[in-house]
Amino acid sequence: MQPIVFVLGKPGCGKGTTCSYLSHHLPVQHFSAGDLLRQEVQNPRSLNAQIILDDMKAGRIAKPEITVQLLREAMEAHPAAKAYIIDGFPRELEQLEFFKQQLDVERCFMLHLNCSDEECFTRIHGRHSNRVDDNDQTIKNRLQNFADETLKVINLFKHQGRLMEVNANADKLEVCQNAFRVIQSLVGIRK
Ligand code: C5P
Ligand code: MG
Repeated sequence: MQPIVFVLGKPGCGKGTTCSYLSHHLPVQHFSAGDLLRQEVQNPRSLNAQIILDDMKAGRIAKPEITVQLLREAMEAHPAAKAYIIDGFPRELEQLEFFKQQLDVERCFMLHLNCSDEECFTRIHGRHSNRVDDNDQTIKNRLQNFADETLKVINLFKHQGRLMEVNANADKLEVCQNAFRVIQSLVGIRK
């Protein structure tokens, strides 16, 4: 199976922006776990729409089986990709375990977009989204989740020598270009 790069960072750190830049400049297929969950909420035939929405509104992490199933389907629909970039996943160790049980992962790495809480708050306040979870209380819950759960996953990759970090407090283009260099040298691919 193709290499996978998980892109993690606090809410508002620029995961979506950076991954969209990467997928335009490299032959990689990008999926956002959060976007796949939001699409599922909009799917009238989904049996999980309401429970996902409730978790999102509260800033809680959705059941791992739901997110992993959505990612698996998305990846299977793009078998020709040279590499997959997955943003916002795995948010916790349990999601990572589920993913490894379901998919035959040989090479996986992590890019951490390292950003301060203050900068994340400022960016989310500035993005004028109509997301159900971009209010102050839910942003706090999401940042707390990051500190309690996601950091454990990041530290695991660090101990395994599979972690790369980019300073995400910098300006957008600089963050994107630094991430590009890191990913290009890692997966050794060119468009
Ligand atoms: O990554 P993003 O900020 O778009 O995620 C929004 C919300 O989607 C999270 O706060 C969480 O409720 C849910 N989510 C999740 N598991 C993931 C990614 C997102 O439960 N791996
Ligand atoms: Mg996002």
